[in-house]
Amino acid sequence: MTNTPYAEVIGDPIAHSKSPLIHGFWLEKLGLAGDYRATHVVADDLADFFARRSADPDWRGCNITVPHKVAALDHVPDPGDVRGMIGAANTVFRGEDGALIATNTDAAGFLSPIADLDLAGQPVVVVGAGGAARAVLFALARSNVGRVTLLNRTPLKGAALLAKFGLKGDALPLTARLPEAALLVNTSVLGMTGHDPLDLDLTPLPAEAVVYDIVYAPLETPLLKAARARDLETVDGLEMLIGQAAVAFELFFGAAPPREHDGELRARLLA
Ligand code: ATR
Repeated sequence: MTNTPYAEVIGDPIAHSKSPLIHGFWLEKLGLAGDYRATHVVADDLADFFARRSADPDWRGCNITVPHKVAALDHVPDPGDVRGMIGAANTVFRGEDGALIATNTDAAGFLSPIADLDLAGQPVVVVGAGGAARAVLFALARSNVGRVTLLNRTPLKGAALLAKFGLKGDALPLTARLPEAALLVNTSVLGMTGHDPLDLDLTPLPAEAVVYDIVYAPLETPLLKAARARDLETVDGLEMLIGQAAVAFELFFGAAPPREHDGELRARLLA
């Protein structure tokens, strides 16, 4: 008899995670026998968690959230190029031989809503230099973007990331005037509920520029409001959240999620 395959999201705290809703929605739509749950794991139990789960043949893997994204790499035999480049994993799954592999689906999830944009050689603005910025810069470097203007409260951190990802450009303070750019991405906490808004003068952006905010609480950030007021195309943080989950879902359950239901999924996430 085979038992129900399952995956989960681990973190501390974990109650706020949207991942069970997203993966559960897709499992239900596909009629797949599978389960996806949220599991509270504290740092001291992380090694034990991976040891127990890797011995469970029904376990397909997990998503990883704060504060385990870096530490998880120590408990997985194959951290891929995640350790050296992004430095943090948000997904652990089983390879064909069953061994655990760490990856970070934020980079592909970030690109998925802008897959039709040809970014090669295009100038881009990135705001922020934290963990989320690393996944975004990794994805942008893979997309062969042109110059990157990285705006951050601490420009030195931005300069270090540009160098790390082999990107040409400038690291500047948040007060710098924007250059002309095809894409502007906010990866910082600015605009998130409880934080100051990201207050940029968008005037230098051309009419065809896309403004992308990976913040999803609130969904309409002051940055996206300002972009819409200028009739610029916008991408919100729920699109990246769903995009990164979609990559992980396929790694866990071996089926592509039914993205034609994204409208219904977004409504559920916002309810
Ligand atoms: P994450 O892993 O989610 O990206 P993080 O590593 O804490 O989170 O990074 C948060 C980002 O928001 C950083 O770019 C940070 O700027 P610094 O690199 O200067 O710390 C930025 N940030 C956080 N609080 C900020 C504030 N009050 N004003 C401006 N930027 C802020």
